[in-house]
Amino acid sequence: MSIKEINLSTIGMQKGKQYETIVSTENSQNVKNAAPIGIICSGIDKVVCRIFKGGKTLDNILSQKKFIVNITHDPELFMLSTIGNLPEDYFEDDGSVKNVDAYFKCEVVSFKDAVKQSDPIKKKGEAIVIKSEVKELVIKNNTNALNRGFGYVVETLANLTRFDLVSNSQKKEYLDRFREANRVVRKIGYPEDIQAMNEIKKELMKKGFKP
Ligand SMILES: Cc1cc2nc3c(=O)[nH]c(=O)nc-3n(C[C@H](O)[C@H](O)[C@H](O)COP(=O)(O)O)c2cc1C
Repeated sequence: MSIKEINLSTIGMQKGKQYETIVSTENSQNVKNAAPIGIICSGIDKVVCRIFKGGKTLDNILSQKKFIVNITHDPELFMLSTIGNLPEDYFEDDGSVKNVDAYFKCEVVSFKDAVKQSDPIKKKGEAIVIKSEVKELVIKNNTNALNRGFGYVVETLANLTRFDLVSNSQKKEYLDRFREANRVVRKIGYPEDIQAMNEIKKELMKKGFKP
């Protein structure tokens, strides 16, 4: 169903939050490509993404000034589009990916060199920030776009329950995992996820650790 009034909240996207999606693009010879990309919702019909140089997705978006954001929770689609490319028969004629829950078509408003680095990737000036407007939203199944925060909270809670059962070197590994999970959740998670991570941190401190 194509939605007349575009509002990304209908697929669970909140302003300022980041969602993991599969972006499909085409080059000038109409060869289709797909890759997982984090998309930040910047308004009811606006998105921002930051894409590192060197891949097909960025080249295609720079040349065609448009792309499609596919919303799915299917691990196979994420895996296939990360390791290699999706086979041609995984794409619809309009360039979206088959069997996704929803997709939206974007047109680029501006490109800018990325300056701020908030992740472990050290090189600066290697990415482009792309601001875009959503021109068409198609919802096939009721869905919420995928936010990585909650998965990290559950994983960190599972590790917390094992803390007292493992060796010192394993404890150190869990602490490192906590720090990485906390970094990501603070960056992309919902307030409830961040609150849960704060509580886990307190528990670790009660156990005598410095998370
Ligand atoms: C969940 C997930 C999210 C990703 N988000 C981004 C992103 O926001 N920006 C980016 O440049 N790469 C991101 N990547 C990495 C690209 O998908 C990866 O570099 C891919 O190989 C690019 O392929 P391409 O040459 O088809 O564009 C992400 C990967 C995964 C698995």
